[in-house]
Amino acid sequence: MIHFDKTQCKQHRIVFSNQKGGVGKTTLTRELGLYLASKEKQVLVIDMDPQANLTRSLTDSEAPGTHEALSGHLYEIIEVQSCLSILCGDIKMATLEKSLIAEIDAYTRMKELFEDDVFNSFEYILIDSPPSLGVLTVNALTAAEHLIIPMNPSLYSMQGTNDLTATVRKVRKSLNPDLKLLGVIINAFDSIPVITRQIKDEIRSSFGDRVFSSVLSKSIKIEEAIASRDGLVSLQNAKVKDEIILLGEELIQRLNSEPTSTRAFMPSGVEA
Ligand SMILES: Nc1ncnc2c1ncn2[C@@H]1O[C@H](COP(=O)(O)OP(=O)(O)O)[C@@H](O)[C@H]1O
Ligand SMILES: [Mg+2]
Repeated sequence: MIHFDKTQCKQHRIVFSNQKGGVGKTTLTRELGLYLASKEKQVLVIDMDPQANLTRSLTDSEAPGTHEALSGHLYEIIEVQSCLSILCGDIKMATLEKSLIAEIDAYTRMKELFEDDVFNSFEYILIDSPPSLGVLTVNALTAAEHLIIPMNPSLYSMQGTNDLTATVRKVRKSLNPDLKLLGVIINAFDSIPVITRQIKDEIRSSFGDRVFSSVLSKSIKIEEAIASRDGLVSLQNAKVKDEIILLGEELIQRLNSEPTSTRAFMPSGVEA
């Protein structure tokens, strides 16, 4: 077992967010978490989505998780495999959107939670957020240091981006000035239709170098990996295995080359 101590080394807290459903937030949180764990990095994934797809794809545990942690009750961090732990989500979290809003610290609960010692032993904390820009997502954006926006190369992929960037700007202004856009990851890419390539180019022309150069292709192997509870990284000879490795390496490299000064959140061309 390789130990990590946040008080000695840097911890990376990354939220995967996009208010659209089905773009790959859960898939990328899971697969990048499993990839980093395969490299013996200490990883914690946090399920902030009441649908709890991330949780169910990794464990049958019914342990008290994000819901309890954010409402000030006892919670457990479950180790699902070597180097990979989870704070579980469940359907009860849907009620948090309503109950938290009346509280003065509604948006900073997760940030405060990270002060608990138990979080010090993780080098990477990856947060999967729900498909909305409500209290849960704002909690994740407030507690994280980096944002990754998963996007599908579909006709409407850029629609709604302005709502997300407007929320992020508000969070940066009043709750978390350190939040940075680590990048946009294009998921479920299909290289054959011309339209997909055109949309990919459109995403690149809006987000410039914030778009990861690696993509994750559309593949049935993603659902197979979920069903077997394995990661793409443990497959033999699969294109998506090579892609997740490339994405994971690019993630690490982007974190290492992170500028020290706070740069503009969005590149020019993306309205916020
Ligand atoms: N690259 C991909 N290829 C094929 N299916 C995918 C891919 N990425 C995600 N999926 C599937 O699409 C669905 C939505 O993905 P998910 O990661 O849950 O999106 P989100 O969390 O943004 O709602 C899931 O059933 C998932 O298994
Ligand atoms: Mg999801």
